[in-house]
Amino acid sequence: MSLEGKVALVTGSSQGIGQAIAIRLAEAGANIVINYRSHPEGAEETLSKVLSVGGKCYMAQCPNTRGQTLKADLGNIQEVPQLITDSIQHFGRLDILVNNAGIEKHAPFWEVTENDYDAVLNVNLKGVFFATQVFVQHLKETNRSGKIINISSVHEDLPFPNFTAYCASKGAIKMLTRNLAIELAPFGITINNVAPGAIETPINTKLLNDPEKLNALLKNIPLGRLGQPQDVASLVSFLASADADYITGSTFYVDGGLLWNYQEQ
Ligand code: BGC
Repeated sequence: MSLEGKVALVTGSSQGIGQAIAIRLAEAGANIVINYRSHPEGAEETLSKVLSVGGKCYMAQCPNTRGQTLKADLGNIQEVPQLITDSIQHFGRLDILVNNAGIEKHAPFWEVTENDYDAVLNVNLKGVFFATQVFVQHLKETNRSGKIINISSVHEDLPFPNFTAYCASKGAIKMLTRNLAIELAPFGITINNVAPGAIETPINTKLLNDPEKLNALLKNIPLGRLGQPQDVASLVSFLASADADYITGSTFYVDGGLLWNYQEQ
């Protein structure tokens, strides 16, 4: 499952799942572009971890650096095309796009502000849409195949009260993936969703610090634990590789059994 010679951009890779994906893809041999919005120190940490996992031959091919950190807000549509273009310019090509950056805001439906709605939809959907569009244009122009992996959520299917904008964005990502699987297949471009459940990352900080809520959640997870970012990263690495060439338009759950857990006592 080698990614030797490939270049991957992982959005939102300064922390959590994105950071683990960047490191895992680098371990498989890919050159990585690290993107962050507000945590440059996290991006630096990812960069040093990416550099520390080796990948010798890339040092030769790309003597300056094997990793690069790029600041861009995926929720700001002006910054999105530039992020993709800069990634391509730095390494001369881009083969793998991992749309990982995502945010959520907690509020009952009747209190959601337009600002919060826009923030969530812009990062989780509009940013993904247009980053993917520029990536696809690059692949078409250079006549090459490529892989798109969206980090969605179990909440592309499962209701999550008080997170309606988040669920709407993830449900939309599910349909974007299915549509593009068909539209992009003639170009050898595949697209898949990875849908994490409850993973121990900064997006969950509040929950992790609330023992009552945490225990209630753990009771819903058949495997009895939170997921780790690495649990997600290993699947992404597989989907980014040639071993997954025949897989497109699918969602893969990494949730310890959470999604379909229903028990009657
Ligand atoms: C959300 C988390 C939530 C988890 C399981 C994820 O998509 O980001 O906040 O804990 O789903 O419900």
